Amino acid sequence: MAAEVLALHEVDVFYGPVQALYKVSLHVRQGEVVVVLGGNASGKSTTVKTALGLVRPARGEVRLHGRCINGWSTHRIIRQGVASIPEGRRVFPEMTVRENILLGAYVRRREGRKRLEEDLEHAVALFPSLAGRLDQLAGTLSGGEQQMLAMARAWIRRPSLLCIDEPSMGLSPLYVDKVYEVIARLKAEGVTMLMVEQSANRALEVADRAYVLQNGRVVLEGSAQELIRNPAVQRAYLGGERREGLGSEELDRERAPRGEACEPELGEATA
Ligand SMILES: Nc1ncnc2c1ncn2[C@@H]1O[C@H](COP(=O)(O)OP(=O)(O)OP(=O)(O)O)[C@@H](O)[C@H]1O
Ligand SMILES: [Mg+2]
Repeated sequence: MAAEVLALHEVDVFYGPVQALYKVSLHVRQGEVVVVLGGNASGKSTTVKTALGLVRPARGEVRLHGRCINGWSTHRIIRQGVASIPEGRRVFPEMTVRENILLGAYVRRREGRKRLEEDLEHAVALFPSLAGRLDQLAGTLSGGEQQMLAMARAWIRRPSLLCIDEPSMGLSPLYVDKVYEVIARLKAEGVTMLMVEQSANRALEVADRAYVLQNGRVVLEGSAQELIRNPAVQRAYLGGERREGLGSEELDRERAPRGEACEPELGEATA
């Protein structure tokens, strides 16, 4: 079995007095694409932020490549090869596309300019929407192009784990297709990914395994194929407009009593 890259073990997370995650456990193995599904406010982004050290669990353990990383700074986690494409993308608008991509390669600066220039060419091949736009200011790109740029910036880091928060959010169907084509190509290159999504269809097509969050708890997990066939998942996520999550009574659970508050450390995700 492939090595474990990331694991959350019975993680509780609070924002002040409000508990966002309840004993969440999940893992991602080398080369896997794992998707976390769930409706609004189910704790998807919090799960990714926990992996990135942007919020600290009050209880439970976070492991990266087998080491406990509870309390590690985001900076230190990112230095271990974790890349993030946050919700809303966050490119640097006043910088060019080229500068944005090369910022992602900052951690590889010792490899020499030639290697990075070669990778920049490879990035343009992998993300054709960016071809001919390397000198354009990132702020003038369309939303879909900005998502491509955020992905190119993360890809050029050669991450050992890529965390993506809602890659299809707010994009036209054409760009949703493009984003998922890129994700499939990254998967074929062997990139390990933890992805969160509200729209389950496309995510489950590319994923190996999936977890479903509801009110901060994992209520279902399994192979992507199992979840696609699961009638409750189909009703909640694959059928159409419903976005509030699983509705079947057996999956609806009461919230556990609130635990003690911790001081979450919030910051900006760096790609
Ligand atoms: N900085 C914060 N301070 C206080 N509460 C927060 C904070 N961030 C998130 N929360 C709360 O934690 C819960 C989970 O939020 P989270 O952003 O993880 O959900 P999500 O599943 O990503 O939702 P969405 O689909 O809307 O992005 C929500 O109830 C939210 O209000
Ligand atoms: Mg979110």
